[in-house]
Amino acid sequence: MIKHDIVVVGGGLAGMRAAVEAAERGADVAIVSKMHPVRSHSGAAQGGINAALGNEEADTPEAHAFDCVKGADYLGDQDAIEAMAEDAPRQIIWLEHRGCIFSRMPDGRIAQRPFGGASFPRTCFSADVTGLVILHTLWEQLERFNVKVYEEYFATALCVEDGVGTGITAYNMRNGELELVNAKATIFATGGAGRAYAKTTNGYASTGDGMAICYRAGVPLMDMEFVQFHPTSLKENGVLLSEAARGEGAYLLNKDGERFMFKYAPNKGELASRDVVSRAEWTEIMEGRGENGCVFLDLRHLGREKILERLPQIRELALDATGKDAIDTPIPILPGMHYWMGGIATDKDGATSIPGVYAAGECACVSVHGANRLGGNSLLETIVFGHRSATHAANYIKSVGEVRSSEKTFKNEQDRINGILARTGGERHPQVRKALNTAMSDHAFIFRDDKTLGEGEVALRQVREMAQKMTTMDKSKTFNTDLVGLLETEFLVDISMTTMMGARNRTESRGAQARTDFPDRDDANWMKHTLMHFKGQTTDPEPDYSRGVTFTKFKPEVRTY
Ligand code: FUM
Repeated sequence: MIKHDIVVVGGGLAGMRAAVEAAERGADVAIVSKMHPVRSHSGAAQGGINAALGNEEADTPEAHAFDCVKGADYLGDQDAIEAMAEDAPRQIIWLEHRGCIFSRMPDGRIAQRPFGGASFPRTCFSADVTGLVILHTLWEQLERFNVKVYEEYFATALCVEDGVGTGITAYNMRNGELELVNAKATIFATGGAGRAYAKTTNGYASTGDGMAICYRAGVPLMDMEFVQFHPTSLKENGVLLSEAARGEGAYLLNKDGERFMFKYAPNKGELASRDVVSRAEWTEIMEGRGENGCVFLDLRHLGREKILERLPQIRELALDATGKDAIDTPIPILPGMHYWMGGIATDKDGATSIPGVYAAGECACVSVHGANRLGGNSLLETIVFGHRSATHAANYIKSVGEVRSSEKTFKNEQDRINGILARTGGERHPQVRKALNTAMSDHAFIFRDDKTLGEGEVALRQVREMAQKMTTMDKSKTFNTDLVGLLETEFLVDISMTTMMGARNRTESRGAQARTDFPDRDDANWMKHTLMHFKGQTTDPEPDYSRGVTFTKFKPEVRTY
């Protein structure tokens, strides 16, 4: 049995920030990750991280908080949003002191670029590779504190004894053995679940592992109907072309060369919030002003020098995928699944409803993003809530004695995995994944209505049935990626219904949830969070609307950009 005070599940930015904080506070902490931390999907984050440094203009944490509340279409919990905005400048300075190389202004101060829905240029960046630069900074800190990393360990279940979290079970991919990982506190930082959709900006590892594990163990998932479609993903392969491009001044054009965004967002144009821009693009495409199912991102007027200095990666990504050079050609783009606003329900310290179990980063719903996240706030969320959850967990474990080892969970998981390996005759996981991707992409996309969502529920129930019988061709123990792919697909299947049902039940349009049959925001009936409770792998989740939205000082207003 592996044993630590705190185990962090996931080695991306939220996980590493949490582990470093726990180590600095003297806890015996380890990371369990299905991959090497530096290969985590956080490394694909491009455009930047928000903080009201007030470098270039008189920005404040309060202005940042207001922008988030408005961006969230008033569904975000304002106490958590204020905590995030307040802590942001401190965390940027912390990163800088740990060696993070941010891009600079000529006088040496950290440069900040405009991002969608923000009242000031507030996004700190390292060219267009910000996530990767922060990932390496944190990796150095992990090494400095000698944090033990169990890499290529795939978490399968949460252990709960007498209502308290006591660690996890994890499948060691190198030798096929299941391990019991005993811990006084467990912090999930497993990222998003973009692979539920056919096209996504997310890496292959974004399979909702932590969300599904906590959900199965009894922690509700919150606000899962709110899925962010990023306005600029490459038409060819769904890869992200950062919002930084528009922040630096790029245009969105339809097939007639028209800068269409000002029709939809007269004040902000291309820098409206992402839900608004994605809907506008899709409307252009649906009304026949797209070309071959896409619109265009035009960087030409920025000039070669600026593109090479500020946006080198997106130029290369576009060049590789399309053969088109953004320096002299508009790039075909369309909205692509990017981020889940919902996730494991937590409070503003990352604590879930099970004592000793925390969540931070995209897998969590704190909720700072409400119905729509602003660009630049996901990197911020990983750092702020990685730090906060570890701070809370490090205090929590002081009052915890020995925790019981969950032999029963271990045995159940062992039997479950052996049972899967012994199965014959069912579908293999790529077929099930494909059916799931089709159901989600066709039925839980940008515009929704009761009919489409109802059909989506039926389709997901069929997928669920297929998933019960999935088999592996590989029965071996060494790097059985067939088995891991199957377990990941099961996770995706479990959580997808929370999105479909949540979207169908919520009979209003708010942020990223655009219902054509209920086009207005309905504060009287829907100023509340959606909680979804797990009822078993063959049953629909149970919705619960008992959790209201926390307000501090920002009153709901009509939201325009
Ligand atoms: O467009 C981007 O660079 C993505 C940023 C984000 O999702 O926060």
